[in-house]
Amino acid sequence: MAGQSSRIKGVNSKLAHTGNKPDEFFGFVNPPVVHASTVLFPDAATMASRSQKYVYGTRGTPTTDALATAIDALEGSAGTIIVPSGLAAVTIPLLAFLSAGDHVLIVDSVYSPTRNFANTMLKRLGVEVEYYEPLIGAGIADLIKPNTKVVFTESPGSNTFEMQDIPAIADAAHKAGAVVMMDNTWATPVYFKPLDYGVDISIHAATKYPAGHSDVLLGTVSANEQHWPKLHETFITLGCCAAPDDVYQVLRGLRTMGIRLEHHQKSTLEIARWLETQPSVSRVLHPALESHPGHTLWKRDFSGSSGIFSIVLKGGGKAKAHAFLDALEVFGLGYSWGGYESLAVHVNIDDRTVANGPYEGPILRLQIGLEDVEDLKEDIAAALAAAEAVAE
Ligand SMILES: Cc1ncc(COP(=O)(O)O)c(C=O)c1O
Repeated sequence: MAGQSSRIKGVNSKLAHTGNKPDEFFGFVNPPVVHASTVLFPDAATMASRSQKYVYGTRGTPTTDALATAIDALEGSAGTIIVPSGLAAVTIPLLAFLSAGDHVLIVDSVYSPTRNFANTMLKRLGVEVEYYEPLIGAGIADLIKPNTKVVFTESPGSNTFEMQDIPAIADAAHKAGAVVMMDNTWATPVYFKPLDYGVDISIHAATKYPAGHSDVLLGTVSANEQHWPKLHETFITLGCCAAPDDVYQVLRGLRTMGIRLEHHQKSTLEIARWLETQPSVSRVLHPALESHPGHTLWKRDFSGSSGIFSIVLKGGGKAKAHAFLDALEVFGLGYSWGGYESLAVHVNIDDRTVANGPYEGPILRLQIGLEDVEDLKEDIAAALAAAEAVAE
């Protein structure tokens, strides 16, 4: 039966064939979109014992099971929860594994709203929050305390794309009994499989490449065998389930994610290499470039790169950055990424405590979409010229 064959090994075969069971749904190739709160029971005894597969909409449906099964096949995980946004995919596991009096280590180049959650809600709940240098590697052992319960990683880091030595960090964390979490949105499980490198909990903003069309918000959290029961229990306790149409759209997006990623990767590398030759660009922050300080780690652990990176301009500040953005006509100005269209944003790293530079000029983040590379280069060239024309 397609979908369950042992011949499905490659990642693109998995993307095409996992998460659907046509034999269970009259042969239809895609699973049904189940809109449900109520589930009926055949009799009182079944109802009292809850001894049937589905019992209530918040706890899972054939639609959420389809996506979770597909993600498990990609991640190599024991279980996956599906939540309403990428940010919820960050906050729910942190709530699951941290309690008052615990200490959490979070990489300083983390996605800003993750930091905001830690600095507000986690601190209010009595958790001690500490940020660490992204390049720390095995040195994280020096920061681990008896009450360190979670080490949170994100590699490459948001906006500045520092690579982390995930196996070294996981090793040190595990020696101290801490849970290792990773926001793996940049690579997706196509280019990096966190659980194979010692991570316990893999987090994705499925809003980005899995959804791929800038129209859906969704998050997934996948756990290894040891940590799945607690993650699942917290998900049920919080009632933070996702809407069926969004879940279906992400499963649909997975079918083409492999080929979209290949296109993002190729166009992005071509543009990144070209940007390295532009006189007004000081640095290109993309780990797949040989010039990037994290390139060796990227090459060791990752099998590809996606479509978002940053450039640092040679000198100047906000006026130059705004001139660059305002001159763009193909790129949109927007905070998200992973969709089919190119986007740009002026990066702000003011909230960082350790990984804050120095940078020679403004940092501009570019998400390279599926447009033609020549059109994108022309747009960026016009933006660089506009930035150059600003006297600062
Ligand atoms: C690295 C990373 N993680 C998580 C998220 C959050 O995803 P969402 O927008 O679905 O909440 C984002 C969004 O930009 C992100 O860049």
